[in-house]
Amino acid sequence: MNAIATDFETQFALSAPATMVGKFREKLAEIAGIEIGPEKESLVRHRLNKRINQTNAGDIDSYLDLVMHDPDWEEELMVAIDMMTTNTTYFFREEAHFDFMAGTIVPDLTESASDRQFQVNVWSAASSEGAEAYTAAMVLSELKLLHPGMEYSIIGTDISPSMVATANAAIYRQAQIDKIPEYLRQRYLLVGKGEDTKDRVRFVKSIRSRVKFGQMNLKDDHYPVPPDVDIAFLRNVLIYFGPEDQANVISRVASKIKIGGYLFVGHAESMIVNHPRLVQIAPSIFRKM
Ligand SMILES: C[S@@+](CC[C@H](N)C(=O)[O-])C[C@H]1O[C@@H](n2cnc3c(N)ncnc32)[C@H](O)[C@@H]1O
Repeated sequence: MNAIATDFETQFALSAPATMVGKFREKLAEIAGIEIGPEKESLVRHRLNKRINQTNAGDIDSYLDLVMHDPDWEEELMVAIDMMTTNTTYFFREEAHFDFMAGTIVPDLTESASDRQFQVNVWSAASSEGAEAYTAAMVLSELKLLHPGMEYSIIGTDISPSMVATANAAIYRQAQIDKIPEYLRQRYLLVGKGEDTKDRVRFVKSIRSRVKFGQMNLKDDHYPVPPDVDIAFLRNVLIYFGPEDQANVISRVASKIKIGGYLFVGHAESMIVNHPRLVQIAPSIFRKM
């Protein structure tokens, strides 16, 4: 075989169409920014298995072909993307952020408010089931006892419609609340009374009324979030994105934070933040200048 033929073969092999799972991984990165490497294709197969059965699509290739190419399956594409999100979260995760909120941010805001009346706007920007947002709500509700002039509101956003629905319902299993101190459980959680609900708890109305969740994709160019955020949580989501998406997301989130406001990222994510207006003031805590 001559050199040209060998070259042709190499090029042909390189540009051969990706597998259906490979194409789906590309689609996932394009739509949601979530990058799953080829070595994790078994994870994709595992997570989609249930949907393949539920939709009677047959096998994974037929399922992915339909979701990516058939307009009638457009909604299912969003379900498939939802299945790919990692939603691990828990109450009081990375507690130092909540301590900083209580020990530094709120006291500083009280000091600078001329009449001690002030508003704290919190955004949980990858809110999953809502544990981060409700933790902030409990902490702020406790702080309100010390600072009665403080008002607060919390929004949570996530790409996953199922997570947004769970968060809005504010209902959790007993096993999920073990990190919530007993005195806060007593104050802010109602325990189910029925046979089916005795393993469930729900946040009281005074907390639910302060917290709202909606679906939002951090990959979108525009975020429907008012530019008056005092504290943005962007935790444990940047790690799933490639460098370009990471930079774009940080920049769009930063544009929603007030000057003097704060950004919290996950403890393994500080290195990712490189923005001229965001100054690191503590591990995983940045202030907008
Ligand atoms: C590991 S959870 C982190 C939850 C919470 N921030 C925490 O630290 O406990 C990551 C969340 O990011 C969400 N997510 C992934 N890609 C997203 C995107 N493009 N836009 C918005 N949310 C996204 C997932 O649905 C998931 O709920």
